[in-house]
Amino acid sequence: MDDLRDKYLGAVSGASDEAALEDIRLQAVGKKGEVALKMRELGKMTPEERKLMGPKLNALKDEITSALAAKKAALEDVALEERLQSEWLDVTLPGRSRGKGSIHPVSQVSEEIYAIFADLGFAVAEGPQVESDWYNFDSLNIPPHHPARQEFDTFYMHRAADDERAPHVLRTHTSPVQIRAMEAQGAPIRVIAPGRVYRCDYDQTHTPMFHQVEGMAIGKDISMANLKWVLEEFFHAFFGIKVKTRFRASHFPFTEPSAEVDIQCSWVDGQLRIGEGDGWMEVLGSGMMHPKVLKAGGIDPDQYQGFAFGIGIDRLAMLKYGIPDLRAFFDSDLRWLRHYGFASLDMPTLHGGLSK
Ligand code: DAH
Repeated sequence: MDDLRDKYLGAVSGASDEAALEDIRLQAVGKKGEVALKMRELGKMTPEERKLMGPKLNALKDEITSALAAKKAALEDVALEERLQSEWLDVTLPGRSRGKGSIHPVSQVSEEIYAIFADLGFAVAEGPQVESDWYNFDSLNIPPHHPARQEFDTFYMHRAADDERAPHVLRTHTSPVQIRAMEAQGAPIRVIAPGRVYRCDYDQTHTPMFHQVEGMAIGKDISMANLKWVLEEFFHAFFGIKVKTRFRASHFPFTEPSAEVDIQCSWVDGQLRIGEGDGWMEVLGSGMMHPKVLKAGGIDPDQYQGFAFGIGIDRLAMLKYGIPDLRAFFDSDLRWLRHYGFASLDMPTLHGGLSK
């Protein structure tokens, strides 16, 4: 019995994991283990021997069983200790700060424009950036060979050499959305159409892609007076002060009469100030929609008339936030974006203020 005890207690203390302990348990005190076999021999013993050996065997079984339990607990402690060492974490370390994104001035100004025009009852309409020759030009009363086509520095899409159809274009302005919106909704209608437009041009105030917002209101008695009021309301809300406007007679194929609109400004120490002084800054083109354009959009020009205008969004952003170079808008330079960007939670609303 002493041999058995030495053998199994030795094995238990040398076991390195729970699987080894389980093997030892089966060999020693399992149903067919050595201690059980010894217990079976009790039957063949004399009553005196049995009285002596029975308790001893039971005591041995208990001793091995508790050695197994103790070793198991010890192994678990070691495992836990190892985990605590390897998974150790200093919760007092300062957190790593993440770079914060910012809202691009074009997005910010677009949101401001939506907020203002929504308040005036205008919905937002959209159209594709790759546009057909018809929507970009013909439907807007710019037939082939019209000089205005040259002024636009158009990007043309590819056509197969034997394909006679006019190539699609990257839209040169948001005006084609006028036609699409009239087709989709008919009259009366009040929409703005913001989006990207493309022209082959590049310098401090021109990039090959830029942003415009088109405006259009059609009704039975819409007049130039409504146009003037809407634009003045817009400038007042957008710049936060009353801004005088000047309507200069101009020419666009899609409007008759046409006007370019200037806003009041002055230059003080090389700095532009909007809404004061006696200088003027041209900001948009506008006019009463040409009857041919209404017709192209499926609206009867004898019953309805409308005004339309087109503004450069990037240009408005430059004026309002004093940004000198348009090209930087699209360089994705993080320093520029941090400097001119807006906090993401400062959503412009008319009530909350358009921007800080
Ligand atoms: N589409 C013109 C441009 O890109 C801007 C414009 C002028 C739009 C007069 C209009 C308008 O709707 O009536 O230069």
